[in-house]
Amino acid sequence: MSLLIKNIHRLLCLDHAPDVPPPDDAPQRRFVAGKAMADMHVLEDAWLLCENGRIAAFGRMADQAQPQRAEQVINAQGKLVLPSFCDSHTHLVFATARAREYVDRIQGLSYEQIAANGGGILNSAKRLRETPEEELLESAWRRIGEIADFGTGAVEIKSGYGLDTASELKMLRVARKLAGISPVAIKTTFLGAHAVPPEFAGRQEAYVDYLIEDTLPKVAEEGLADYIDAFCDRGFFTPESTDRLLEAGARYGLKPKIHANELDYSGGIQVGVQHGAVSVDHLECTGPEEIAVLKDSATMPTLLPSTAFFLGLEYPPARRMIDAGLPVALASDYNPGSSPSGRMAFVLALACAKMGMLPSEALHAATLNGARALEWEDQMGSIAVGKRANLIVTRPMDHESEIPYWFGRDPVESAILGGQLR
Ligand code: NIG
Ligand code: FE
Repeated sequence: MSLLIKNIHRLLCLDHAPDVPPPDDAPQRRFVAGKAMADMHVLEDAWLLCENGRIAAFGRMADQAQPQRAEQVINAQGKLVLPSFCDSHTHLVFATARAREYVDRIQGLSYEQIAANGGGILNSAKRLRETPEEELLESAWRRIGEIADFGTGAVEIKSGYGLDTASELKMLRVARKLAGISPVAIKTTFLGAHAVPPEFAGRQEAYVDYLIEDTLPKVAEEGLADYIDAFCDRGFFTPESTDRLLEAGARYGLKPKIHANELDYSGGIQVGVQHGAVSVDHLECTGPEEIAVLKDSATMPTLLPSTAFFLGLEYPPARRMIDAGLPVALASDYNPGSSPSGRMAFVLALACAKMGMLPSEALHAATLNGARALEWEDQMGSIAVGKRANLIVTRPMDHESEIPYWFGRDPVESAILGGQLR
C-alpha cells in the first residue's frame, strides 16, 4: 500500500534541518529540549511518500526524486503536514460522565472536596465496577475513534477506576484489547494507586500492601501493563507509599510514569525521578527545586493544561521549565473528572495562550516529546524515513501558528494512521 502526499505547503517537525542530512551515527533525535523546542524544521513545497505503513521518503516538489505514482495520491496544496499527536497521558477507559460534579464545582465545591465526599475517582470506580467489560470496550472504542479524528496517533491509557484486583484487571484488559484492534498505537499503565477505595478507607498503607501483594502480580502475569503510576499528591498517596509501590513495580519490570505535584508541592517529582520515571505528569506545583531535580534526570516533564483549565488550577510553569533547558511534553489527561476532552489541538491552544509556549514549542511537546514519554520516539513523533506513517493533513492554512490560534476550529482535515487515510 502506498500513499503520496503532494504539494505540501509546509511539512513540519522534521528530525533535522532540511539541508543538513543527519550524521550516520545520530540518525534520529530522541526529544527536543530548551531553546531547541522553538526551532521548527520545515520543508516547504514538499511531497511525502508512505509505503507499508511507514514514511518511505520525502523531498521538495522541485526535486526530481519525487515518485510519479502511488496507489493513492493526496493534494495538500495550501495545507500543512505534521506527525500525529502522541497523547502520553489519558484515562480514557471509564464507565460514565461525571457532569453532576461539574455542576457542583461551578457552585463552589473544590475537586478535593468532591473527592472527600465520595465523589470524584471513587464515583467513577463505583460505576466501572458495575459495568461489563464489553460495554467498557465499546465506549472506549468510540473515544479512540474520536481522538483519531482529532489527530492523535498514539495514546497511553491508565487503569485506576477499578481499585480492586478484578476491576483493575478488567480495565487493563479493555485497554489491551483496544491496542489489538486500534489504528491508534496504545500503551497501558497500571494506576491502582489512584485513590483509596471505600473498603480500605483510612488505611492507605493496607491498600498499598494489597496492590503490591494481590493486584500487581496478576497485572504482571497477564502482561497487561507497560508502566506503573500513582497519584502522588495531597489527599491521595504519600511519597512514601508511592516509593513502596514503584519499588514493587520495578521488580516486575514496570517503569514509572506518575501523577505528581498537581495539588501541592507533594514530593512526587522527586520520588518519580529517584525511580527513573519515564515521565512525571501534571506539575502545576513546580518550583526551582523541582526544576533542578528534573534537570538532572532523563524524566520527561509532562503538562496537562486542559486539566488546569477545567479545574481552574494555576497552569504549570512551562515557560520557566523550557527556559531552564528542560523538555516538556503535552498530553490531554482525557478523563471524566478533570479533563473530559481528548482534543490535543485545544491542549496546544491552552499551552500557547495560558502557559506562554510558542506554537513551535507546543507542537514539539505534543509530537516528539509525547512519543518520548511513551518510549516510542524511535517510531513516531517526527518526520523521518522509517517512522510509522501517522500524519495529520491540516485544513488550508499559511503557518503552523494557526493551529493553536483558531482555537475553536479543528485543524485536522485528514488523519493518516499507518499510511491509511481515515
Ligand atoms: O489526572 N489526578 C488524578 N487523576 C486524574 C483525575 C481522575 C478523575 O478525577 O477521575 C487526573 O486529573
Ligand atoms: Fe491523569
